[in-house]
Amino acid sequence: MSNNTSIKVPFFRVELGEDEINEVTAALRSGWVTTGPRTKQFEAEFAEKLGVSNAIALNSATAALHLALEAIGIQRGDLVIVPTMTFAATAEVVRYFDAIPVFVDCGADLNIDPDKLEATLSALEKNKPVAGLKPPYERIHAMIPMHYGGYCCEMNRIREIAKRFDVIVIEDAAHALLSKYRPDGNSEWENAGCMSEIGAFSFYANKCITTGEGGMGITNNQKYADRMRLMALHGMDRDAWKRFTDEGSWYYEIVAPGYKYNLTDIASSIGIHQLRKVEELRNKRYEIAQRYNEHFNKLNEVEIPPNDESTRIHSWHLYPLRLNLDKLSIDRASFIDELRDRGVGCSVHWMPLHMNPYYVKTYGYTADLFPVAEKEWQRLISLPIFPGQTAEEVAHVCAMVEEVSNTFRK
Ligand SMILES: Cc1ncc(COP(=O)(O)O)c(C=O)c1O
Repeated sequence: MSNNTSIKVPFFRVELGEDEINEVTAALRSGWVTTGPRTKQFEAEFAEKLGVSNAIALNSATAALHLALEAIGIQRGDLVIVPTMTFAATAEVVRYFDAIPVFVDCGADLNIDPDKLEATLSALEKNKPVAGLKPPYERIHAMIPMHYGGYCCEMNRIREIAKRFDVIVIEDAAHALLSKYRPDGNSEWENAGCMSEIGAFSFYANKCITTGEGGMGITNNQKYADRMRLMALHGMDRDAWKRFTDEGSWYYEIVAPGYKYNLTDIASSIGIHQLRKVEELRNKRYEIAQRYNEHFNKLNEVEIPPNDESTRIHSWHLYPLRLNLDKLSIDRASFIDELRDRGVGCSVHWMPLHMNPYYVKTYGYTADLFPVAEKEWQRLISLPIFPGQTAEEVAHVCAMVEEVSNTFRK
């Protein structure tokens, strides 16, 4: 084992600056801590940065996805296509409506595979059994591609397929703030979250920017935006800021049974300053990814994440290293244990959703339905990648991955 066991690199460490701290203090001193002027400002600056007409600040990306499905009118029994290689939230929001998540396998880039997406929609349209589900089917209404780790899906194909099958696209852009995509080297870059009807971002602690917990829904569709705003706050036709200030009146009406998903001004205070630094934060992650790529490219036991720089600008929210298990004498879990023993914190994104007990029990999913996700997840390790990671910490991760690879080489 390396001599350098004193260094401990956590999977993630949040570092907020004086700007965030001062703004939170100012919010606390202002006498207004719930949704108010700072949240309005955060929304306005977010919308401007992404070039969209509406940004709705919420307390999570899960809330944004839920409200997005509500706004497009998802009904009980509707089918919603989701990747199996994603976080719980992408599919659970479908279940909130008693609608049915139809899983699709990922491709080599870990994003939803457009060919399999197309085949799934064709089969559903023809009322054939698909993805573990059996006809009769109700309406196929939406799909939620998710940009894995901040690496954009093949959105051109996805949009074309969605149009052909008349399905509404909502992007789970939880990982992908300022990730960009273009179908080829000559096209204009497009921002993740802006390539569909509604985009959802997360500001959870380790995301591209954080507000502690938080999220944002964005859309250029005014009807969807109005509905999301309404449902984010109990279905009341006026929010608290408007009711309790000089601008407003005490009177409101409840026009729908909404939810309680608003973001506080305390959280937005953090978000305003995080957003102003988002490019700087991304550049730091990019530099770490470059260091990792250079180092791990030399090791036969591991595979670096795909990154086609002619068509993608990566947020590097995650650095998913893949183990070449045939070249190692240990499995992924033991590899993680070995790294932990050497002071490197790791995570795994994710066990595919269809393998989780809830989905197995509810839909009877069995093994081999989604072979790529099932194979890839067994060799995935998310390494530490965060803006405040020091050069020494990056070097330690490189050295320890190399050491474990060498020690357990077949
Ligand atoms: C892909 C994906 N979608 C949605 C979410 C939900 O985000 P939040 O925790 O802000 O609700 C996450 C959270 O990690 C995620 O990874």
